[in-house]
Amino acid sequence: MNIIDKFHNWRRKLRWNKQYKSGRWEKLKGDIEKVRYQTIIDFIAEYAVKNPSVLDLGCGEGILCERMNHDQYSHFVGMDFSSVSIKNATQLKLQNAEFICADIHTFAPDKKFDVIVFNEVFYYIHESEKKKVLNRMMERLNPNGIIITSIYREGIGCWNYFDTNLAQLQFKTIKTENEKTYWKVGVYKK
Ligand SMILES: C[S@@+](CC[C@H](N)C(=O)[O-])C[C@H]1O[C@@H](n2cnc3c(N)ncnc32)[C@H](O)[C@@H]1O
Repeated sequence: MNIIDKFHNWRRKLRWNKQYKSGRWEKLKGDIEKVRYQTIIDFIAEYAVKNPSVLDLGCGEGILCERMNHDQYSHFVGMDFSSVSIKNATQLKLQNAEFICADIHTFAPDKKFDVIVFNEVFYYIHESEKKKVLNRMMERLNPNGIIITSIYREGIGCWNYFDTNLAQLQFKTIKTENEKTYWKVGVYKK
């Protein structure tokens, strides 16, 4: 990213913090979104090793971890560049979970994971960095590890990164009563 892109990224971070403070993203905790988190959880149960370690990129307020039973993961790491959402996630005091404030463009986990989740975050990655971020995360997968991606609506251009670099295990479209509100969720291995 050039200096101007970095500036815009920094401004976006401030906007996310403001929105989390104002409660704008409370809707993610509601019933309409519930099925999206559950699909990710079901994919983890079906395709990941037993008791997996999970990395949730762009974890927001930790809703995915909150919706999982403690026996569905061994260790959960959530990361997000919004310090407000990370503070809220940390306050939940979820078992065997830690939440880290970092930017996905530069975040380099110091360990490997069985499951890496891009949960409604991949489209926020700067175009010039998408491939680099995905490559970096693929390097952090344990053998038999999986990547799960959730994208609102079509996520034009995003799915190519996954489909060309990984092997698809399953793909699902989650529909709602409103035909314009839907998500696509894919699960991949190397
Ligand atoms: C639509 S929210 C999804 C939150 C969460 N994954 C969920 O589904 O509950 C997108 C999240 O991506 C985070 N995000 C956006 N750009 C980011 C970046 N460059 N690095 C880390 N997190 C980022 C935002 O702060 C926000 O929490």
